[in-house]
Amino acid sequence: MKNKLAFLKTKQNALLLTSFATVCTLAVSLTHMWTAPLIEQQKQIAVLNSLNELLDPAKFDNNPLLNCTKLSVPKITGSDLPQTFYRATLNGQPYATVFQTRTEQGYNGLIELLVAIDNNGVVQGTRTLTHQETPGLGDKIELAKSDWILSFNQKSVRSEDDDKWNVKKDGGRFDQFTGATITPRAIVKQLRQSVFQAQQNFDNIFASPNDCLASSNKQNQSLTAKENSDE
Ligand SMILES: Cc1cc2nc3c(=O)[nH]c(=O)nc-3n(C[C@H](O)[C@H](O)[C@H](O)COP(=O)(O)O)c2cc1C
Repeated sequence: MKNKLAFLKTKQNALLLTSFATVCTLAVSLTHMWTAPLIEQQKQIAVLNSLNELLDPAKFDNNPLLNCTKLSVPKITGSDLPQTFYRATLNGQPYATVFQTRTEQGYNGLIELLVAIDNNGVVQGTRTLTHQETPGLGDKIELAKSDWILSFNQKSVRSEDDDKWNVKKDGGRFDQFTGATITPRAIVKQLRQSVFQAQQNFDNIFASPNDCLASSNKQNQSLTAKENSDE
C-alpha cells in the first residue's frame, strides 16, 4: 500500500514537471515568435540609418533604397541566403554598393556588419549591426563605444590573404582591444574576405536586376489595396 502511494506521488510529480516544462517551452517559443519580426525590423532601421552615414552624399545622385539587388554570395555575405546589395550611382554610373556580412567567430558567436565599398574596392565605411560581445571588452566594435570600426575607412584589400588585414598582434594594421583579441580578429578576417570578394564581383552586383523596385511596387500595391478596402 505504502509502495503504491509512493508510486502515485512520483507519477503525479512527473506529470506536474512535464506540464511545467511544456508551458515554459511554449512561452519561450511564443516570445520568440512575437519578438523575431520586431528584432528584424529594428535591424532594418539600423541598416537604413547607417546607409546614409556610410556613403559620401557628393558622390551619388540616386536613392540606393530604390536600387538594390538580392544575391546569394556566401563569400561576400557569410550567409547562404540571398542578401540585399544597395547600389549608389552618379549620373547612372556605379559609385558604391552597401551590403551586410556576418561572422560567427565572435567571442559570443554571431556578429553582423554593414559594409560600403566603392567602384575601386575602397571601403567607404562599416558599422556593427548586431553582436553579443562582452560589454567593456568586445563591444568596442560599436561606434557608440569606440571609433575602432572607422579604422577600415578608405582601406582596400589586395588579395584574400592580404597580410595587412590582420590585427596588429597577428602582424596586421588593425588594433586589437586590451585583453580582447578574438572579437576584432573575427571582424578583420570577415571584412578581408568580404571586401575582396565584393570588389571582384562589383560589376556583377551592378549588372543584376533591380529587386527594390519590385518590392517597393508590391508594397505600394498592397498599400493601395488596403486603402481601397478601407474606403
Ligand atoms: C568573461 C569573459 C568575457 C570575455 N569576452 C571577450 C569578448 O567579448 N571579446 C574578446 O575578444 N575577448 C573576450 N574575452 C577574452 C578572451 O577569452 C581572450 O582571452 C582574449 O580575446 C584574447 O585576447 P588577448 O590575446 O589580447 O589576451 C573574455 C574573457 C572572459 C573571461
